[in-house]
Amino acid sequence: MKIAIIGGGPAGLYAAILLKKQRPQAEITVHERNRADDTFGFGVVFSDATLDNFEKYDPPSYRRITQEFAYWDDIAVHFRGTVHRVGGNGFCGCSRRTLLLILQERARELGVTILFETDVDDEAQFADADLIVLADGINSRFRDKYIDHFNPQIDLRSNKFAWMGSTRPLDAFTFIFQETEWGPFIAHAYQYEAGRSTWIFETDAETFLRAGLDGLNEQQSADRMAEIFGWFLDGHPLLINRSMWRNFPMIRSQRWVKDNMVLLGDAKATAHFSIGSGTKLAMEDAIALADAMAHAPNVDAALQTYEHGRREEVEKIQHAADVSLVWFEHVDRFWDFDPVQFAFGVMTRAKAITYDNLTLRAPEFVREVDTAFAKQVRSKGFEVDLDKPVAPMFQPLKLREMEVSNRAVVSPMCMYSAKEGVPGDFHLVHYGSRAIGGAGLIFTEMTCVGRDARITPGCTGLWNDEQQAAWTRIVDFVHTNSSAKICLQLGHAGRKGATKLMWEGMDRPLEQGGWDTISASPLPYFPDSQVPREMDRAAMDRVKQEFVAAALRGETCGFDMLELHCAHGYLLASFISPLTNARSDEYGGSLGNRLRYPLEVFEAMRAAWPAQKPMSVRISATDWAAGGITGDDAVAVARAFGEAGVDLVDVSTGQTVRDAQPIYGRMFQTPFSDQVRNEARVATMCVGNITTADQVNTILAAGRADLVALGRPHLVDPSFTMRAAAWYGADIACPPQYMPGKEQIFRNSVRDRQDFEDLKIKGKPKTRAELKAEATKPLAAE
Ligand SMILES: Cc1cc2nc3c(=O)[nH]c(=O)nc-3n(C[C@H](O)[C@H](O)[C@H](O)COP(=O)(O)OP(=O)(O)OC[C@H]3O[C@@H](n4cnc5c(N)ncnc54)[C@H](O)[C@@H]3O)c2cc1C
Ligand SMILES: Cc1cc2nc3c(=O)[nH]c(=O)nc-3n(C[C@H](O)[C@H](O)[C@H](O)COP(=O)(O)O)c2cc1C
Repeated sequence: MKIAIIGGGPAGLYAAILLKKQRPQAEITVHERNRADDTFGFGVVFSDATLDNFEKYDPPSYRRITQEFAYWDDIAVHFRGTVHRVGGNGFCGCSRRTLLLILQERARELGVTILFETDVDDEAQFADADLIVLADGINSRFRDKYIDHFNPQIDLRSNKFAWMGSTRPLDAFTFIFQETEWGPFIAHAYQYEAGRSTWIFETDAETFLRAGLDGLNEQQSADRMAEIFGWFLDGHPLLINRSMWRNFPMIRSQRWVKDNMVLLGDAKATAHFSIGSGTKLAMEDAIALADAMAHAPNVDAALQTYEHGRREEVEKIQHAADVSLVWFEHVDRFWDFDPVQFAFGVMTRAKAITYDNLTLRAPEFVREVDTAFAKQVRSKGFEVDLDKPVAPMFQPLKLREMEVSNRAVVSPMCMYSAKEGVPGDFHLVHYGSRAIGGAGLIFTEMTCVGRDARITPGCTGLWNDEQQAAWTRIVDFVHTNSSAKICLQLGHAGRKGATKLMWEGMDRPLEQGGWDTISASPLPYFPDSQVPREMDRAAMDRVKQEFVAAALRGETCGFDMLELHCAHGYLLASFISPLTNARSDEYGGSLGNRLRYPLEVFEAMRAAWPAQKPMSVRISATDWAAGGITGDDAVAVARAFGEAGVDLVDVSTGQTVRDAQPIYGRMFQTPFSDQVRNEARVATMCVGNITTADQVNTILAAGRADLVALGRPHLVDPSFTMRAAAWYGADIACPPQYMPGKEQIFRNSVRDRQDFEDLKIKGKPKTRAELKAEATKPLAAE
């Protein structure tokens, strides 16, 4: 077999090694345009898990690599004169040059031919090769040559960054967030060998210009960075090597394989440097390719296996990298945070590290985070304990005069079980049991303001006395038997009305017994849905009046809070999204115009709703569709409602149009809550695939939301909050009838938690940094 590899970076060289081991008879040649030791960059970084992989696939190169490595366990965050350190991270650094020399030597040892100073410009010269590996890096000539086939999506990010080096020793992966007269600068730094560290500097485009960096050459910009970070560099110089400032390109190639050619490493996909995964991805691509070649019957099949088997893992890492880079791009959102909360945000920015996870590794740090959170709560007038603060989830919150005793919320969920809009016994048990289960705040399902405002025939309503009496019974039960507060969500289905019950066909039009629908514009949801009537002014006045009347009835029922549903493509949302609003009057066009009617309704309700009681609005912070609402629009929407007197923005997403492309995942809507909260400066509630109390605490402690709603988890576990309270040892109200159960779970949780932590700690293998520290520790004096 003949294999031609274009590019002698980590991907190309490691692929050559693994393939040659597998097929000693194969003729494998690496073509590299540079000289052998002519490399850019400084250090590279690997996690312990990546090194485990290297050990498994090629022990000789693994041993040489790890002999050269610098290990560290801690992450240190420097911000506004403070430093916070967290251990247990298990990372290693190595010089990129040394890594390449080791891989070159190992490849040669196995019989791979490496041709340096060989710039390949046409793959036709490899016509007799069975496999051509395109490992030619981020600016891949061959990816671009077949651009229509590989179809790379290149997203050039807004921040500017430059790689530099230093002789400054570091004992932790170090983040420095530095205020300057021009704006914020960030340094990501780590040591990779004795006396050498990598320094990546990053800043936003405006700060870059204000600091005059665009006019400076490499050395001058290094001097500017040395001035800014001089206090930390401690007299050590900054080193340069092709240290130009650039914008990071997030590359996602839609195809990785063409005939017998395959893309590997940066050529195929990149991951932002803030998660330190570029070289890891490149070398793990080589592993995946070698695995596929080992087991497939021919090259074609192997390349298909490689592409299909590896894509999900690469996309997962890219997603984590995206979340992380967005955090760094928007660091100004958190600039006025308490430093410990800021550091917690840095640690937990990419989902992998959480509140519980940090509690095991760095209990003192988490205690500090809890104390800072408790202090914020105390500053709002609550007498909370600062010596032994409870976890953020169990800290109270006040909205106007309403106090909730904890931050866990039952998200609004239609039960589709009402008769003519009247909630029945099912609803009493449903809401009642969730209130008893400990949630601080319960939202009702979308309760419709008129018969024609319903989504389905099973939706609850609040337009007549019978419905009002039924809701009063539920509200009374909640108030009498729990400390939960209850919020009435009012809505109008708009063009998504007159549809079937969820379990009979979600959003599908009713075949019989339907009613006329209205919307901002006459656009059906499905092609075969009813075409809604465009609302005229008379319809607007009538519906507004219905909202106000329902709000007044809600007050009579005794609800503590009111939410206006402006999300998920329903009537008011249909005004806000440009995808569903095609009007040419003053209610269509600009965002300001599109918001006009929803704000009018909100203001009328606000005027009718008691001043001491809070109101929220639920929004879809993105339509997940081209041309639709984006996170930036959501900030503007939140600001507008904020000015109109909203107390909380309930940040959901999507469900506006049929062809939306949401990106699901754990806590997938939380970044929008983060953006809205910290840019519009309004209180927010987040929701969406949040399933554990650990996630709730992580979100709250990092300042990404003020309340956290859980929908589906509450469907199967009404006592979600009670269980979490027992786990975290936070006291919580419980009806006397259930006290024995509460006492038991609180008692058992102490032991269960101890067992769990012991198991986690015992089960966790020692990091290489810990092993090294143990091996080099001087013997204790007798
Ligand atoms: C300036 C810079 C500095 C960096 N510094 C660091 C760092 O300090 N630490 C870190 O972890 N990551 C660093 N990175 C990222 C890291 O280099 C990559 O993520 C990683 O090297 C990807 O490996 P690769 O093998 O896919 O590509 P590369 O390492 O880029 O290797 C591609 C190779 O292909 C060769 N090549 C390209 N075209 C041809 C051709 N037509 N013919 C022959 N040869 C060709 C190139 O010369 C290069 O050697 C840096 C990136 C850049 C751009
Ligand atoms: C059965 C069901 C009914 C729902 N009904 C409503 C509703 O009436 N009003 C609303 O705003 N959201 C509604 N939602 C959306 C939820 O409030 C929540 O935003 C969504 O389920 C995501 O949260 P989760 O992942 O915790 O379930 C509903 C969700 C479910 C599962």
